[in-house]
Amino acid sequence: MAKTHNPHKAENTTRADTMQKLMPKRVEKTFQGFKVNLSQTSYPLYITTFGLEKSLARLKKQLYEKKLYVITNHTVKGLYKDLIDCALKKTGISPVWVSIPDGEKHKNLATCEKIFTKLSQKAAHRKSALLALGGGVVGDITGFVAASYMRGIDYFQMPTTLLAQVDASIGGKTGVDITTGKNMVGAFYQPKAVFIHTRFIKTLPKKELQCGMAEVIKYGVIRDASLFDFVGRCQKSIFNCDQKTLAQVIHKCCAIKAGIVQEDERELSLRAILNFGHTLGHAIEVLSSYKNISHGEAVAIGMVFAASLSRELGLCLDNDILKITRILQLFGLPIRIPEYRVRDYIKAMFRDKKTEQHIIRFILLEKIGRVTITPLHKDVIKKCLNNVLREQKVITRIKRKTLRGRTPCKN
Ligand SMILES: NC(=O)c1ccc[n+]([C@@H]2O[C@H](COP(=O)([O-])OP(=O)(O)OC[C@H]3O[C@@H](n4cnc5c(N)ncnc54)[C@H](O)[C@@H]3O)[C@@H](O)[C@H]2O)c1
Ligand SMILES: [Zn+2]
Repeated sequence: MAKTHNPHKAENTTRADTMQKLMPKRVEKTFQGFKVNLSQTSYPLYITTFGLEKSLARLKKQLYEKKLYVITNHTVKGLYKDLIDCALKKTGISPVWVSIPDGEKHKNLATCEKIFTKLSQKAAHRKSALLALGGGVVGDITGFVAASYMRGIDYFQMPTTLLAQVDASIGGKTGVDITTGKNMVGAFYQPKAVFIHTRFIKTLPKKELQCGMAEVIKYGVIRDASLFDFVGRCQKSIFNCDQKTLAQVIHKCCAIKAGIVQEDERELSLRAILNFGHTLGHAIEVLSSYKNISHGEAVAIGMVFAASLSRELGLCLDNDILKITRILQLFGLPIRIPEYRVRDYIKAMFRDKKTEQHIIRFILLEKIGRVTITPLHKDVIKKCLNNVLREQKVITRIKRKTLRGRTPCKN
């Protein structure tokens, strides 16, 4: 049989070596992953393209009892219950499944209460442990439930979306939304271990893969221009779910996130750069009532706005905005700000917990690979938002006119 040529192969090998070298120094490399080193607690993070049993065997070593409470949602349970049950059985762990409805709109206190009740009915005690099996929503809720149930029990992360594998499952930010703000109620509470299996991505709808790519691109923008270029070149392999490429990208993102979290676990300074694109992004999510637009899409739009604001302040070049816009579009992500009222945007942004009076610590772009945390007055943001929305309207009007000009006359 003729050998198929893989244009990424040679490049990937050297890239992988470079990526290893570029890893933040304080991230200790362990077998197939890292150790996230924090002052109070450290934990391993494994990334693998292989099966589940090895991970579950590792997990079992940290259990006090045979039972493991698997927190998931109905969609993930439908897809993976049999597979996980089988692997758990082989490992000698007895699962207790707790499933919640799918979606960000269920990331709230009412869902937590249901889980607390279920745990208590199923005799979960202080030495019990939870496994978060799902995307960022399941991970954030499970972490928060673990932090609060009986004043804190152990939990593990097994993220199943790209977004959760590169971001949400690492760093111990847990919590839920309330109607006035996203992630407004929560706790810093680290998992005992994170098990990342790239194979889960195979069943992920394309839209969710795209949303995960928003956070991947974010890492490139804030910290690593080579990652930014790499994903730009690997769009095809990523969309084809090539396991090796995915593992490389995830590895790099996790190393960046772990490095940042190790330096500033409680977001007193540096960790805030992970919020690039999130100030407007969270406002969009709140204004859309967590419907119609996903976290990744909102962040994509927020990143373009943050870049535009940076250019307006003379911090970055037009070309950088163009590059960000292009790569987001390459991965099918939106860049257009939804047309809510500017005053509602400002209100939503200032209700977010990272603000003080009329000042927001905004993450601004200097160049691809470098950002800065800058306190900005509300009026500056308002002015830029007005400008961008006005520009968007003009562009839409021109596009409509052009289209109308092209429509053939019916009679
Ligand atoms: N804690 C943090 O540091 C942090 C960081 C980033 C994002 N977040 C949070 O993460 C959430 C977004 O996470 P998300 O994008 O993973 O959304 P999500 O958890 O809603 O998952 C997206 C969709 O994919 C489905 N799904 C999950 N795994 C699947 C699989 N393997 N195959 C098929 N379908 C699958 C889910 O059921 C859901 O419908 C937001 O609430 C955001 O605030 C938290
Ligand atoms: Zn995010």
